[in-house]
Amino acid sequence: MRFSTTSAILGLPLLAVADVPEYQAQFENYLGQAQSYLGSFASKIPQPNKHDPVAAAEAKAGSLNLDILALNTWKDTLYGPVKPESTTPEEWWVLITGGNKTCFGHCGKIESAFNETAGKWAVTPGAPHTALLNCEDQPVLCSAWSAPVGAIWIFEMLPEPAPIDIWTKRFNMTTATSDDIVTLQKEGYKSSAKLHDGFFHPFNGVLAKNGVATPVGYILWGFNLLPSWAFMILVSLLSRTMMSNRMNQAGGGQRPAAAGQAVAR
Ligand SMILES: *[C@@H]1O[C@H](CO)[C@@H](O)[C@H](O)[C@H]1NC(C)=O
Ligand SMILES: *[C@@H]1O[C@H](CO)[C@@H](O)[C@H](O)[C@H]1NC(C)=O
Ligand SMILES: *[C@@H]1O[C@H](CO)[C@@H](O)[C@H](O)[C@H]1NC(C)=O
Repeated sequence: MRFSTTSAILGLPLLAVADVPEYQAQFENYLGQAQSYLGSFASKIPQPNKHDPVAAAEAKAGSLNLDILALNTWKDTLYGPVKPESTTPEEWWVLITGGNKTCFGHCGKIESAFNETAGKWAVTPGAPHTALLNCEDQPVLCSAWSAPVGAIWIFEMLPEPAPIDIWTKRFNMTTATSDDIVTLQKEGYKSSAKLHDGFFHPFNGVLAKNGVATPVGYILWGFNLLPSWAFMILVSLLSRTMMSNRMNQAGGGQRPAAAGQAVAR
């Protein structure tokens, strides 16, 4: 009997409202409201992305020649040095870093090693370009890329619309030094780094190709903020809705109802 009680209380009233002609106008009214709410949704989302253009310009102009990636500018930044007719990739080394919240305060060592490396490469002709992605400041971009803090991502940038290879390399975050990074670049990263692939690939992935990486980044970031009890309630509401939908379909199919269902209707 538990089954019938649950569905009667939670599932049926909602579905009933959608079905009964007298309520249809009301239902459509709600639908209109929902749509207009979703329309203005983007402007209502709290703005989690922090980007300080002045500090970024200083980092770029300074001795490190380091770019700071942000949600709205990362693509232009990475394509920046790529010439339209170029057939050899422009190499970008990007450190995914974070602070106390996103990296539990463990990113300091690798970040200084990376900064030191950027300083060396800034005065080395033909050296890779360097950039930082800070997940504390750019949580949505990190979610959209599903990028793990502490890793170095090596982008091989070719002119659009060529696919972009990305190699990922993790260092031991407690021991990494600038020399480790310099050596990796000198000796070639392809034997020890991993070729990045899959859904979340910033250029070749399904999400990026369909232009939904950023919205998905917002959604994943949102789920991260949700306390786990809220998540459980959400999941249980969704599964109840699905259960009553299925019941409704079974009823419409004129199949003889089982005893439990007969009570529910
Ligand atoms: C990060 O945590 C350390 C140790 O708990 C603390 O000393 C430091 O001030 C924190 N930094 C920030 C930016 O909150
Ligand atoms: C690395 O360089 C960036 C840009 O100049 C700076 O914001 C950051 O604090 C530096 N990190 C460390 C650990 O020195
Ligand atoms: C990193 O290096 C330290 C010191 O050598 C070692 O204790 C630790 O296990 C290493 N961590 C990983 C993930 O390899």
